[in-house]
Amino acid sequence: MCGIVGYTGNEQAAPILLEGLAKLEYRGYDSAGLAVRDGEKLAEVVKATGKLYHLADKTDQGRALPGTCGIGHTRWATHGDPSMVNAHPHVSGNCSGSGSGQVESDVVGVHNGIIENFAELKEKLLHHGYEFYSDTDTEVVVKLVDYYYKKYKIGPVDAITRTMVRVRGSYALALMFKDFPGEIFAARKDSPLIIGTAKDASYLASDVPAILKYTRSVYYIGNLQAARVSPGQVKFYDLNGDEVTLPLSEITWDAAAAEKDGYEHFMLKEIHEQPAAVRDTLNSLVKEGRVSFSDAGLTDEIIRAVTQIDIVACGSAWHVGMAAQYVLEDLACVPVRVELASEFRYRSIPLGEHTLVIVISQSGETADSLAALRVAKERGAKTLAVVNVIGSSIAREADHVLYTLAGPEIAVATTKAYSAQLIAMDALAVQMAFVRGVISQEKYAQMLEELSTIPDKIKRVLEEKERIQWFSSKIVNAHDIFFIGRGLDYAISLEGSLKMKEISYIHSEAYAAGELKHGTISLIENNTLVIGVLTQSRLFEKTVSNMMECKSRGAYLMGLTTNGNFSVEDSVDFTVYVPKTDEHFVASLAVVPLQLLGYYTSVSRGLDVDKPRNLAKSVTVE
Ligand code: F6R
Repeated sequence: MCGIVGYTGNEQAAPILLEGLAKLEYRGYDSAGLAVRDGEKLAEVVKATGKLYHLADKTDQGRALPGTCGIGHTRWATHGDPSMVNAHPHVSGNCSGSGSGQVESDVVGVHNGIIENFAELKEKLLHHGYEFYSDTDTEVVVKLVDYYYKKYKIGPVDAITRTMVRVRGSYALALMFKDFPGEIFAARKDSPLIIGTAKDASYLASDVPAILKYTRSVYYIGNLQAARVSPGQVKFYDLNGDEVTLPLSEITWDAAAAEKDGYEHFMLKEIHEQPAAVRDTLNSLVKEGRVSFSDAGLTDEIIRAVTQIDIVACGSAWHVGMAAQYVLEDLACVPVRVELASEFRYRSIPLGEHTLVIVISQSGETADSLAALRVAKERGAKTLAVVNVIGSSIAREADHVLYTLAGPEIAVATTKAYSAQLIAMDALAVQMAFVRGVISQEKYAQMLEELSTIPDKIKRVLEEKERIQWFSSKIVNAHDIFFIGRGLDYAISLEGSLKMKEISYIHSEAYAAGELKHGTISLIENNTLVIGVLTQSRLFEKTVSNMMECKSRGAYLMGLTTNGNFSVEDSVDFTVYVPKTDEHFVASLAVVPLQLLGYYTSVSRGLDVDKPRNLAKSVTVE
């Protein structure tokens, strides 16, 4: 949800800021803006609505904006529509028209997050003579900083920390003050922000890829901390304005991992990276024939003591939880509940010290998942985070962290992070089953051996992509698609349906196959596409029967099953096979054709696959 960048050094700032914003465009792309200062001169603000290239065109790729210190923003609208006037940066003074041009203001800033009490603060500032030109909460926060700065005649850091005490909500803020040329001031609460340093330059960004080209040395600014950033130097402050020391971390990512590498879209590249993402994640967990969660501090004793698991997540990560539920229950005989984080946080589910709450999140910054984690901790549960982004808020706050090694995921629709999460959860289920004495040593070894074959089997599924591409060209004009399955196949259907609708904009639903008759089947008409997921032998016939019920009402059928189940061809119009594996682990294979189906359908419809409308990669607002 919104990406922010900052640069101060000896180079021209605007091209560097634009480059950084391009790497963050997955976080929002309604509008974008820059504010750059040339020495002592006033900041120059330029904004553009729509995708980032409009801003790049407007500034001649940044070359038209002189100055070596600046901030930038790419927006995913929360307060106020995506217009020029609501685009960031925002200024403390009055501004006419769209807000572009030289700004007289004392403070200019960009913000990612949401200020919950902005209406009350706006009221207060109106009282003190401030006028507002936009509908944004950001303008309010910039003006509040300005208010404290002038009222108490204090420095920028103190004005910012006073503001932090006063605002509720989440923010990553980067601000420039007229009286402090060459410096950027920052603050953070519950929204991501990193600060990188090099010899004579410093960089701010919402995410690592934005600065990876320039530096690998970064500080993870803590929650409720502020920073004063000058070329090559950063100072950090707590809420009292006292200086604090933070450790400098080294980013070990491969920069090429964040590039498209010859693929047409990040999503397709990331689909193809799944064998590596799954293998790397698995290799980090399975050592010498045993699963080890020692890096996560999750001992066998802790695992043995668990009496209840609650999995909490959003979107696709929640679908991983749904799949893991069946596997954990079946293998480890432990009761599992799967909750949407946005619901969990407001429910009164009793949790105890033997409840393990597992929060699954690629970004580690999803606002609802973070809030749910905090609720779980408050209620005394043990918490385990399954997270992809190192150093993210969820990773930092959970009792135990299990990192997935999917690498940076850029496409808004998740694929490789989903698969890495799934394999991590499968490894957890196998380990739980063994440690709790549900499976024998022999079965344990067999299952780990089978897990290690998954990356190659995913590769085999990818080799069949042309068939899926062909099929997607047939369904490109579909109005509705229904994905159905039972048990684990239902969980796979949920993810297949989300992949389809979020990037192709075709309405789709996932249903537990047995539930169709209780209402939804009335929506089936001639040529409605029904995709049945049929990987669970115990449930195969039952789901086929449900598909036949749809067919007799006119539906066109696709079956997704494992090699050998050729009888399905007698009943359906198009079949996709995935290699056989232990049925507990089949979601890792069956999801891949469904990802490809969503992808190719979106491409055939000429849509922006990597940046679907209205979405953002990291949902840092409630
Ligand atoms: C869908 C998708 C989202 C995310 C969800 C949670 O393709 O990517 O549904 O899964 O927003 O995000 P994280 O995993 O970052 O918490």
